[in-house]
Amino acid sequence: MLGLIPVLIALTIHSGVGAADPCAAIAGKKWISPQEARSCMFSFPIEEDIKDNIIQVVNKTLPFHTSVNYQILAPPPYDKYVHEDIAADLARIKETSYTSDFDFHIDLYRSFRRLNDGHCVILNLCYDSLYISYLPTPLVLLTAENGSQNVHVAPEAFTIASAEFPDQIDFWQDSLPGDLKGQLASLSGAKVLEINGQDPFILVNENAEITGGYQAFGTRQNSFFSSYSRGAKSWSYVMGNFAQQIHPLDDFVELTIQRINSSVVEQVTIPYRSRIGSTVRNFTDSASYRANMCTNVTGTNGFNVYDLGSVHAQQQAVPPVAYLEQQPMISRQDRKHPINVMLDATPLSDVDLPEELLPLPVALNESYSVAQFYLLNDNITGVLALGSFSAANFTAFMGSLLDGLQELKSLGATHLVVDVTNNGGGKCAFISKDLSSKFRLGYICIAHWLHRILIGPKNTTEPQAGLYTCTRAGSLAQEIVESINKGGDPEALLSYNPSQWRNSSNLPFSVQSHWLRPTVNLTINGHDDAFSPRLGAECQPFEMTPPEEGLFNPENIVIISNGRCGSSCSLFSITMSKHEGVKTVVVGGHKDTPQQYCGVVGGQSTHFAEIDTEIKSTYLKNHTLAPPDFKTNSVLGITWRLAFGIDNPEEPEEWQDHPADFNLPLTMDIVNKPSAIWEYTANMVFPSEVVTDEARTQAYLPYWAGV
Ligand SMILES: *[C@@H]1O[C@H](CO)[C@@H](O)[C@H](O)[C@H]1NC(C)=O
Ligand SMILES: *[C@@H]1O[C@H](CO)[C@@H](O)[C@H](O)[C@H]1NC(C)=O
Ligand SMILES: *[C@@H]1O[C@H](CO)[C@@H](O)[C@H](O)[C@H]1NC(C)=O
Ligand SMILES: *[C@@H]1O[C@H](CO)[C@@H](O)[C@H](O)[C@H]1NC(C)=O
Ligand SMILES: *[C@@H]1O[C@H](CO)[C@@H](O)[C@H](O)[C@H]1NC(C)=O
Ligand SMILES: *[C@@H]1O[C@H](CO)[C@@H](O)[C@H](O)[C@H]1NC(C)=O
Ligand SMILES: *[C@@H]1O[C@H](CO)[C@@H](O)[C@H](O)[C@H]1NC(C)=O
Ligand SMILES: *[C@@H]1O[C@H](CO)[C@@H](O)[C@H](O)[C@H]1NC(C)=O
Ligand SMILES: *[C@@H]1O[C@H](CO)[C@@H](O)[C@H](O)[C@H]1NC(C)=O
Ligand SMILES: *[C@@H]1O[C@H](CO)[C@@H](O)[C@H](O)[C@H]1NC(C)=O
Ligand SMILES: *[C@@H]1O[C@H](CO)[C@@H](O)[C@H](O)[C@H]1NC(C)=O
Ligand SMILES: *[C@@H]1O[C@H](CO)[C@@H](O)[C@H](O)[C@H]1NC(C)=O
Repeated sequence: MLGLIPVLIALTIHSGVGAADPCAAIAGKKWISPQEARSCMFSFPIEEDIKDNIIQVVNKTLPFHTSVNYQILAPPPYDKYVHEDIAADLARIKETSYTSDFDFHIDLYRSFRRLNDGHCVILNLCYDSLYISYLPTPLVLLTAENGSQNVHVAPEAFTIASAEFPDQIDFWQDSLPGDLKGQLASLSGAKVLEINGQDPFILVNENAEITGGYQAFGTRQNSFFSSYSRGAKSWSYVMGNFAQQIHPLDDFVELTIQRINSSVVEQVTIPYRSRIGSTVRNFTDSASYRANMCTNVTGTNGFNVYDLGSVHAQQQAVPPVAYLEQQPMISRQDRKHPINVMLDATPLSDVDLPEELLPLPVALNESYSVAQFYLLNDNITGVLALGSFSAANFTAFMGSLLDGLQELKSLGATHLVVDVTNNGGGKCAFISKDLSSKFRLGYICIAHWLHRILIGPKNTTEPQAGLYTCTRAGSLAQEIVESINKGGDPEALLSYNPSQWRNSSNLPFSVQSHWLRPTVNLTINGHDDAFSPRLGAECQPFEMTPPEEGLFNPENIVIISNGRCGSSCSLFSITMSKHEGVKTVVVGGHKDTPQQYCGVVGGQSTHFAEIDTEIKSTYLKNHTLAPPDFKTNSVLGITWRLAFGIDNPEEPEEWQDHPADFNLPLTMDIVNKPSAIWEYTANMVFPSEVVTDEARTQAYLPYWAGV
């Protein structure tokens, strides 16, 4: 994929005078070829004022992102993977001439992806996920009995493709060569020997270089493959980066395969097909495409919370960022809770997990939304499948976590598997300020709550069940706080209001205190930087009374995922692992690559519109350091608070190691089947007389085994 891009850009067709409008050609069509999508998307010429506007907004918002200077060169073990000087790249981009607006966006987007930070992302809804390219053959990485690993077409590939793409499946059937025509189903499970004539891991690793989102290389390799996630309403299937691409840049892929029960090696060429994204607004030609998709909308920029006219307008709209958060859509009411969530250009999966893969045990009645409880057939292992740390109703979510775990115990469960596969935390929002009620607990607090109720009251769970944090204390941030200190936020609606936060003794700041001072002055990668003093936790007392004792013994808890556990999910997993000794497992993954059980810790995330709201509400929009409004349909996410570590409390947790205790290989029988994976995990990780030591050694590979 990576290798194709320069070629594609070179081949870009620009509609000259008199040429047919390439956007009119695709208007109203659900499925098109990637080439048709590109002809439209690359046809918009660069407009210097638009380019300059985006660069200015980004450049002036980055001083609110905690990690800019760290990311120039991260400390080990991330030094090989995070070495992006985003300020230098912005300067480069400013000086670069682009043939089209989309070329400019791709360069900017890719530069941000190189941060490998799911919190700090630039998106332009004029291009990202407008036409998503699919293949009917998602891939998985399977381990054979002798320990050898191979890429395979997912065994469920045809079931998925025929259910999700009923209106395209014939196209793909007809595109297969010779005797394989119409035999797409027979590709399911096939061993993939080569992709585009090369070892499949060449492409896996190329994708890992550009996909971004997580610091660790193994975690980014894993994004190539398909997986599952628990959504608010149902179980979803995640296609993976191979079979689902947010930009229509590839036309086809060549697979060298060996089908199940066949000794013949075959070659197939499978075309990508691009489907119109669910957020696309109707257009008829280039002009209406630009007007409907590419300009700012309500929610793109911030507003003055003390100007009732703007407040009203904001309350009528769903902010664009809501579509991009890797979590279920949350209510306007609950959006004000501080969240730590990842942003992605890929919308949350709406592909259902097929019947044959759904968990077998019936979920307990205490299950709610993204939190589902199961008792395994051994009657002693309970499962909490947790797809996110946010759900529509915050109170109901907290209650469900407590009730579900207590119900598992009352049914006899003594062991617990917590499955956080593809749990991106929550995200980066609280756009709408609810003027009528006070700031309450946030989704970060769900992570604290779950830690506290599982473990019980201890010095690691009370009054702080998460991580200490700091925020960046740039000049403009300091002026915002000064303005609030002088009475600039009488209703305590702003995020820079000291009364929202607590000091390192976990006690609230007074509204007069300048909580960013005295600033902690650091030199990071040769750059002077300034942060607030250490901040404590504002989650406790919780809205609900936690039980007096921990619900499960930490030795009997295991947290499993595909490594793609970020943000609030990291806050939870790290405190459970490093403070309480809870075991962690990554399922799947290349056996020679160390697997991290989580990544992209952050502390609290936010995005441009929120920062802009702080600036506008304190009448600082005219300040020379204040970013202008976005003119485009853009979203910029940042990390606003950065968490301190546990092993080294003086440095950010973001850059500390999170090695999984176990790496469980996936096989044809269990891949993408949650309940089979839970049973397997329970058997391997919890010692019992049924599994002998010898069997255990043969059955799993600790992550270091292959090194
Ligand atoms: C970003 O802002 C800094 C500080 O104001 C300035 O020195 C730099 O030139 C700006 N970069 C770009 C690309 O505009
Ligand atoms: C391991 O098993 C696979 C299939 O079962 C086989 O193709 C491969 O050659 C074996 N590898 C080794 C090193 O024995
Ligand atoms: C492969 O062969 C085995 C044994 O004959 C059979 O049970 C299985 O159904 C076959 N699988 C496929 C996909 O043809
Ligand atoms: C978009 O077009 C479709 C099909 O023409 C139509 O059903 C739908 O109502 C239109 N949506 C909007 C928002 O105009
Ligand atoms: C769960 O709810 C269903 C449907 O409301 C009910 O039939 C069942 O008895 C409930 N189970 C338990 C254990 O309460
Ligand atoms: C688990 O409990 C069910 C219902 O009480 C029982 O039928 C089953 O035999 C038990 N399984 C085991 C492994 O004890
Ligand atoms: C949220 O859940 C709580 C507890 O179940 C309930 O009392 C409350 O009415 C719910 N709120 C909304 C807005 O549905
Ligand atoms: C908690 O208490 C233990 C034992 O008293 C001590 O070793 C540990 O450092 C304390 N941890 C924290 C986070 O205060
Ligand atoms: C936190 O605030 C309390 C109350 O204002 C104060 O007594 C305490 O010294 C502060 N702690 C720190 C570490 O600043
Ligand atoms: C950090 O630098 C600022 C200004 O450069 C200064 O006012 C502040 O006191 C310094 N902080 C500390 C802890 O020395
Ligand atoms: C910015 O400055 C202009 C001109 O001085 C003034 O009219 C405007 O009200 C100011 N805007 C804000 C948001 O303070
Ligand atoms: C969109 O950007 C323009 C500046 O080009 C600004 O005047 C307008 O207020 C913005 N609209 C919204 C909804 O943010």
